[in-house]
Amino acid sequence: MSVTVRVPAKVNVQLAVGAARPDGFHDLANVFLAVGLYDEVTVTARQPGSGPRVTCEGPDAAQVPLDGTNLAVRAAEALAARHGISPDVHVHIAKDIPVAGGMAGGSADGAGALLACDALWGTRASRDELLDICAELGSDVPFSLVGGAALGTGRGEKLRTLETGGTFHWVFAMASRGLSTPAVFREFDRLAEGRDVPEPVASPDLLTALAKGDADALAAAVSNDLQPAALSLFPELADTLAAGRAAGALATLVSGSGPTTAFLVRDAESARKVAEALRTSGTCRSVRTASGPVAGATVL
Ligand code: C5P
Repeated sequence: MSVTVRVPAKVNVQLAVGAARPDGFHDLANVFLAVGLYDEVTVTARQPGSGPRVTCEGPDAAQVPLDGTNLAVRAAEALAARHGISPDVHVHIAKDIPVAGGMAGGSADGAGALLACDALWGTRASRDELLDICAELGSDVPFSLVGGAALGTGRGEKLRTLETGGTFHWVFAMASRGLSTPAVFREFDRLAEGRDVPEPVASPDLLTALAKGDADALAAAVSNDLQPAALSLFPELADTLAAGRAAGALATLVSGSGPTTAFLVRDAESARKVAEALRTSGTCRSVRTASGPVAGATVL
């Protein structure tokens, strides 16, 4: 028997970052929007006692770790441990979300494997238990489960669902190489040395723009405190942002810790134009369009 779960990517429309905490994490005001680029995670029972196995297909599959560090494997192990069962499962990931791209692709696989194993094993974990396990796996994993739009506080794992009044259209440019999230946070700390870092707070204008479905107002309010750090480690991203801006994007930003760049556009027609301009700009590896909000992890 197999269970397949579909899980979306995310873009951060606001990422406000506070000072480093004693535990090394940073307090955030992280406004997530789930967008329609998906990984599909399929779990299949294995021989009793054989343990977990993970495989991956897709354009970036070679970059996905297939050992115990894979978040999908860790999710299966965490659920099994809580329920006193052996994690004898084959997890297969059909990967479409860019790897190490700042779009929560690894987190999506963690949330997807968790929901899929819960269905496969009949463990019937409550929503709160699933969210607890997600938070143990990583700061962005709870949002991958929930989807839609949400404000994440703490290290990003404490979620409040946000109202959205419409669909927002995006273009995403994938970069020629990845960026490590811890390295980008370290660069944020280096750039912040000697400065007072304010408490992170969600922008009221941004939340209103989301609630109204107003793309122009959202464009005026988007921000990412990790962007200077991502650009410092990967200066060529400025060329991609400039190409999207010149092509008529309403707003341009680095997605999360990058290096994927995100372009908010007015509608699907404008998305096609900006995508075409980015494709021919020679400043990125590939280009995708997607809109959101979309639902979180869903059993197919
Ligand atoms: O929680 P997650 O495993 O996704 O975090 C990856 C890394 O990103 C952490 O080890 C930390 O370096 C950094 N991080 C942070 N503050 C956060 C979230 C992540 O410093 N709120």
